[in-house]
Amino acid sequence: MSPRVLLFTGKGGVGKTTAAAATATLAASRGLKTLIVSTDTAHSLADALAVEPGEVAPGLHLHQVDTQKTLERHWGELQEYARGVLIELGLDEITSEEITVLPGAEEVIALLELREHAREGRWDVIVVDCAPTAETLRLLALPEALDWHVSRLMPVGRKLVRLVSPFVRSVAHVSAPGEDVMNAGERFHRGLMEVRELLTGENASVRLVLTPESVVLAEARRTLTSLNLYGYRVDAVIANRVFPAGGADEWRAQWVAAQSRLLAEAEQSFAPLPIHVVPYLPAEPVGKDALAAVGADLYGSSDPFAAPAVEPPLRLSADELALALPGADRDDVDLARKGDELIITAGPYRRILALPVALARRKISGAVLRDGVLRVAFSSGSESETR
Ligand SMILES: Nc1ncnc2c1ncn2[C@@H]1O[C@H](COP(=O)(O)OP(=O)(O)O)[C@@H](O)[C@H]1O
Ligand SMILES: [Mg+2]
Repeated sequence: MSPRVLLFTGKGGVGKTTAAAATATLAASRGLKTLIVSTDTAHSLADALAVEPGEVAPGLHLHQVDTQKTLERHWGELQEYARGVLIELGLDEITSEEITVLPGAEEVIALLELREHAREGRWDVIVVDCAPTAETLRLLALPEALDWHVSRLMPVGRKLVRLVSPFVRSVAHVSAPGEDVMNAGERFHRGLMEVRELLTGENASVRLVLTPESVVLAEARRTLTSLNLYGYRVDAVIANRVFPAGGADEWRAQWVAAQSRLLAEAEQSFAPLPIHVVPYLPAEPVGKDALAAVGADLYGSSDPFAAPAVEPPLRLSADELALALPGADRDDVDLARKGDELIITAGPYRRILALPVALARRKISGAVLRDGVLRVAFSSGSESETR
């Protein structure tokens, strides 16, 4: 049984670490074996919980990623992989010092560890405190983006990659080859694909943290669209730092009014997702007790650890590809086809999607974005370049 994986993301400073730590504390208090990890190298989880990493409360384990150590463990795989990519790009080999400055490298390493934790079978719940919005997105999209590179760069890899691709696997029911037949680069790549499968799988979901401010809300909307684009299920929104109503002074009354306007807007933007409200507390919720109090109030009567109730954003049938893109504007969405790949753009984000064999042979007969869902219809005619 794979553990329930909960990812927390949102703009910097909105309360991701607080919400993640509060949720993990709640899980442990309900007797669930809980691991909390961060892909953010700032290590603010330990500060928020006011503890050292390890078993921080009964059933609650805090893991801090040691990037350098993990990097050394995966170095062989990484190096071989990076070499292939770089040679293809016309660059020379890179050194281990240089690889850590590659965008997303540290987070990728954290995610590779996450996969190992998930495999251990020790945890009921794994809570992930993600880096701020943009990085998280890039990071989450990385395995698939890399898949795209690898399938071009590695002739042998191409076949293997196709075999482990979740789409192909679900359509054709093939099993992945054993680790021994793969080289280090392929193993690394497969690790990334497994992370992606874990994070887009039926036991994983993302919770979007925001504060009721217009700038934050605008970014959260874009994040929701792009998370869907990349195939992640978002199952709740957490509105943090909401001023409790009451009090007579003008300053407070104005904030309360402005926030309630924005919360109403958020409800419209994110429906049917539930919005869980956390009040602006009189002090920073630091330490296990304060976080436990936040966690106890956070989800009301709903069960935050049940399997996600939302459908996966991407659904394929014999003649249609449907991708939920809530909040996407028609003008921002673009579609292009290149052989057996579909390139979907939503604003600044792009997903390169390998079509399953059944659809790859067919021609696109039409595409519409309606009610937040992009529907691409395939006709029985054979493949051709379509736009
Ligand atoms: N509801 C709240 N009321 C008061 N302070 C809060 C609340 N939520 C978070 N904080 C404080 O705000 C700061 C930023 O929160 P944090 O969870 O670290 O944000 P993020 O991880 O998104 O950067 C921390 O000092 C935290 O203790
Ligand atoms: Mg944080």
